Amino acid sequence: MEERLLEVKDLKVSFNVGKKKLTAVENVEFSLDKGKVIGIVGESGCGKSVTATSILRLVPPSVSVIGKESRILFAGEDLTKASDVRMREIRGNEISMIFQEPMSSLNPVYRIGDQMIEMIRTHNRQITKKAALDQCVDMLKRVGIPSPERRVREFPHQLSGGMRQRVMIAMALLCQPKLLIADEPTTALDVTIQAQILRIIKSLTNEFGTSVILITHDMGVVAETADNVMVMYAGKSVEYGTAEDIFDHPAHPYTIGLLNSIPRIGSGQKGHLYTIEGAVPGLDEMPKGCRFCTRCQYADTRCMEEDPGMRSVNGHMVRCFRYGKEGSI
Ligand SMILES: Nc1ncnc2c1ncn2[C@@H]1O[C@H](COP(=O)(O)OP(=O)(O)OP(=O)(O)O)[C@@H](O)[C@H]1O
Ligand SMILES: [Mg+2]
Repeated sequence: MEERLLEVKDLKVSFNVGKKKLTAVENVEFSLDKGKVIGIVGESGCGKSVTATSILRLVPPSVSVIGKESRILFAGEDLTKASDVRMREIRGNEISMIFQEPMSSLNPVYRIGDQMIEMIRTHNRQITKKAALDQCVDMLKRVGIPSPERRVREFPHQLSGGMRQRVMIAMALLCQPKLLIADEPTTALDVTIQAQILRIIKSLTNEFGTSVILITHDMGVVAETADNVMVMYAGKSVEYGTAEDIFDHPAHPYTIGLLNSIPRIGSGQKGHLYTIEGAVPGLDEMPKGCRFCTRCQYADTRCMEEDPGMRSVNGHMVRCFRYGKEGSI
């Protein structure tokens, strides 16, 4: 029996922008078991980061509202009801996050080692500075940083982008979180380093039993790493299933479009790569029915009027009227 770590139910997140209330994420549901990786994919602006940051309540509370109906069950505890003190305890201890931009999360005026030691000591006041430093060096070694003894004495600007991202991963793992949320952890990196970092993240799930939410717009990255996948479009999940469901039997026209736009080596593809025409609609111009209807070649009048809702066939969920029907996509 798999051990369930996280269950997100009917997540809705809105922002107060001027006099308007704009909903960035709606009807998002997924779950994650211990030691597993879920990939969240979708184009820019689809609500991936908002989904992730709302789990840790890092969306600015002054402008954002999480729906009353939403539940975020973490090891059985509903985080939507947790106090701010409890959330501070959870952040960095039980759930760690690696952000999209590593430079903005490291303090430029402190040495790498001092920032890491500080992090260890806020969670474990008994530990000596020497023992904490040893832990830092060990963790930097694990994430593949050469000469970690020297690197701990350096400042963030002395490291390359790839190294800074590895430092972020090392910091996120120092407290051995149960859940690691990695928001585009490899986007700024070149392909070889990207592969190494994904391998590191994947090996951690085996070594420590960490569960991972991996956010990316790169389907290739997800294919390599994730056990389950949720595809988001314009604030909603449009397809959700195992990696096999998504990659071998994709059913939502949007997922199929995303998969067709991955370049494949040796496929004999020539000329231009496939692109999905049009753009993700803005938060204040969402179509009434299926949100993808404005870009979908199959859309009919019903799609423009009515949200199809998530339809499940053996746990593979798709938000499309055509799904489950004979002769469907
Ligand atoms: N603080 C905020 N106030 C108002 N709108 C916001 C805020 N944060 C995010 N949004 C809006 O919510 C929507 C989803 O944004 P989000 O950052 O989750 O996208 P994303 O899928 O992570 O995109 P990317 O791939 O570019 O990182 C966007 O339309 C964005 O403008
Ligand atoms: Mg994002």
